[in-house]
Order: sequence, then structure tokens, then C-alpha cells
Amino acid sequence: MTDQEFAGVITIDGPAGSGKSTIAKQLAVKLGIQFLDTGAMYRAVALACLQNQISLDNSEQIQKLLPHIDIRFLDGKIYLNRHDVSNQIRTAELAAAASKIAILPMVRSFLNHLQREIGRNRKIVTEGRDQGTAVFPQARFKFFLIAAQEVRAQRRWLDLQSRGQNISFAEVLAEQIERDHRDTHREIDPLQAAKDAITLDTSSMTTDEVLHKLIQEINRCLPH
Ligand code: DC
Repeated sequence: MTDQEFAGVITIDGPAGSGKSTIAKQLAVKLGIQFLDTGAMYRAVALACLQNQISLDNSEQIQKLLPHIDIRFLDGKIYLNRHDVSNQIRTAELAAAASKIAILPMVRSFLNHLQREIGRNRKIVTEGRDQGTAVFPQARFKFFLIAAQEVRAQRRWLDLQSRGQNISFAEVLAEQIERDHRDTHREIDPLQAAKDAITLDTSSMTTDEVLHKLIQEINRCLPH
């Protein structure tokens, strides 16, 4: 891995509901470059396990399943073994399942490899939990978004409501607390800010304000 191969990568990491997906998507559009949603990849692997009735802690079975998993992005949609699963993976159940399989080393190395292939010699905005720390430590720009627990749960609850999912705010909050704990305490590549990341608390910021701030930072560091 050389610094040059991944110089075009911008990483945005943070917990669920920090605003990273919305911001990463909009930043990519603004810069006219590709967007990579790595959480969707973990959700797709979790979906493959559920479809094959594999228990989420059965590492032996999951190891056997991985070579049969094909994940692709096309026109803003994610395909699992050639099926569009973009909507199917957007449930609280799949979020929790993704967080469970994300503790497994073989799942992480399988997806890290795929993510590096996508980012190699390309300009992309990638978002997740470990993009600036483990997957693209050489990325030129790294951001870490945070927000208050209740604010994040409120954003996610509104998002799930808009997708027609009937789930209470209390359930979303409880699932989020459990998931945050698992994501930050797992042994391999836990959710954390890279040492050279810029951390931004988005609790009381609008999407436009966050976007403006990120673009300001990018422009400030680019040679004029
Ligand atoms: O960002 P998301 O809610 O779609 O992510 C779902 C889960 O996937 C998250 O709780 C932990 C896992 N994940 C991860 O471990 N590493 C990433 N880079 C992205 C997601």
C-alpha cells in the first residue's frame, strides 16, 4: 500500500446518527466524486447470513459463506449477489445484525479488502467506523462526526419513520446505546477517531453548516 494510491480518499467516520451518511453523500456530489457507504456492506453481509439461516455468532459458517458473497454498488444502489438490497438493509434489525457480525475478524478483513479495491487510485468519500483508522490510514482528509446520544436517536427515528417503519423512539435509543457499545468496545478496529482526524460535533448544526465546514477544511489544506 502506498500513500499515493489512496491520496484521493476522504474519510468520514462516526457513530450511528452522527450525520455522516447524509454529509458523505452530499460532499461526494459537491466534489463530483464517488461515495462509499461501508455500513451498507456490513448490513449486506448480515443479510446474507440471515438469508442462509446462519447464526450471527457462528464464525465457522460465516467464514464458509464469505466466498459466496458478491457486493457491488451501482447508481447509488447496493447489490448482494446481483439483487438490489438497498431498501431491505435499512431496518433496525439489520443495523443490529451488522454490528454483531462486524466484530468478526474474517468479516472485517473481507470487507476492508473490498473497500481498498474500491478506493485504490480513485477519488472517493467513504464513511463508516474505521475508514480513517484501519482501512485508509493514508487518506488525505479525515473527519470524525459526533453528536449527542438523544439527537442521534432522534435523527435515526425520523429516518426509520420516513421509510415507513413502525418503531418507537425508545426502541431506537435502546438499540443505539447497545450498538454504540459493541462498535466502540470490539477488539478489532473499534469505532474511534484517527489521530489526524478533524472531529466535529454536529448536535446543533444543520447539514449545510456541516458541509460548509468540511469544504472549508478541505480548501484550507489544499495548495493554492
Ligand atoms: O453505518 P451503519 O449504521 O450502516 O453501520 C451498521 C453497522 O456496521 C455498525 O453498527 C457497525 C458496522 N460497521 C463497521 O463495523 N465498520 C464500518 N466501517 C461500517 C459499519
